Amino acid sequence: MKLTHVFGALTLGTATLTAWAGGGQDLLAKQCISCHAITKPESASLERLWERKGPDLYFSGSKFNREWLEAWLQNPTAIRPAGVMYSKLVKAGAGGTPDVIDSSQLPTHPKLSKEDATLAAEALMALKGSDGLVEKGAFKNEPVNASFAAMLFSKLRGCSSCHAAKPGTGGASAPELYTAGDRLQPDFVLAYIKDPQKFDPHVWMPKFDLNAADLQKLTGYIATLKSAEKK
Ligand code: HEC
Ligand code: HEC
Repeated sequence: MKLTHVFGALTLGTATLTAWAGGGQDLLAKQCISCHAITKPESASLERLWERKGPDLYFSGSKFNREWLEAWLQNPTAIRPAGVMYSKLVKAGAGGTPDVIDSSQLPTHPKLSKEDATLAAEALMALKGSDGLVEKGAFKNEPVNASFAAMLFSKLRGCSSCHAAKPGTGGASAPELYTAGDRLQPDFVLAYIKDPQKFDPHVWMPKFDLNAADLQKLTGYIATLKSAEKK
């Protein structure tokens, strides 16, 4: 008698859970996969990188902070100032003038309701990518000397030639990093800086020869970059 009760409750629980997680997966399959890879692509060719419409999401659970994800899906803002394939929209500035972005061609991202954003975030956070892609706990969160780290970012390593650490500064060929502290998990940031080609063999971010201490410092610095309202 008792056992049947427990069993009954369990089945109900599992059924509800499956329906719920399924809702998020369904939503991704219906509304997102036309632009995003939610499973690891079989061939990571240059053509695929060139033709894809949106960034890969198959390692979202190892990359994003869930709170950011839910908020962004309801109110998406531009992360890549010149789109996913910047060379299609950027015209090199003449004689040392800054590059010009044809932002009229930047697509606006689909917006989700609060309920759908929660479902999508839940399903995305379950996508961890392959084992060892992002090493958990690699970022030690030691105190950083902010001005030295900022110099490492802008002058010594030239990260700012592609990335903006503040709105309106830096290059446009890569994701902005001024919301990175809200957006990204530090372990992901460290793994990406250490070896960008591990995430995509054709991505144009160079693999820098950074020592362990500089990796920690750059990651610590990027983790402090947050949107103004949240500071
Ligand atoms: C028409 C194509 C298109 C569709 C459909 C689309 N996206 Fe996107 N998505 C993009 C593009 C382009 C970007 C890059 C925006 C940027 O960097 O400014 C993006 C960025 C993202 C990002 C941030 C990724 C990163 O690495 O920075 C997330 C998360 C995301 N989309 C989730 C979704 C979800 C969930 C859906 C389905 C509900 C969806 N997208 C549907 C094109 C699309
Ligand atoms: C030649 C241009 C270039 C330089 C220089 C460069 N990056 Fe990148 N970076 C990129 C590109 C391109 C991406 C990924 C593009 C994408 O996902 O659409 C990227 C991605 C990243 C990401 C992940 C961001 C995200 O939202 O997915 C981090 C963190 C990062 N870079 C940090 C750095 C740091 C730190 C340096 C300096 C040591 C640096 N980058 C130098 C081009 C560059």
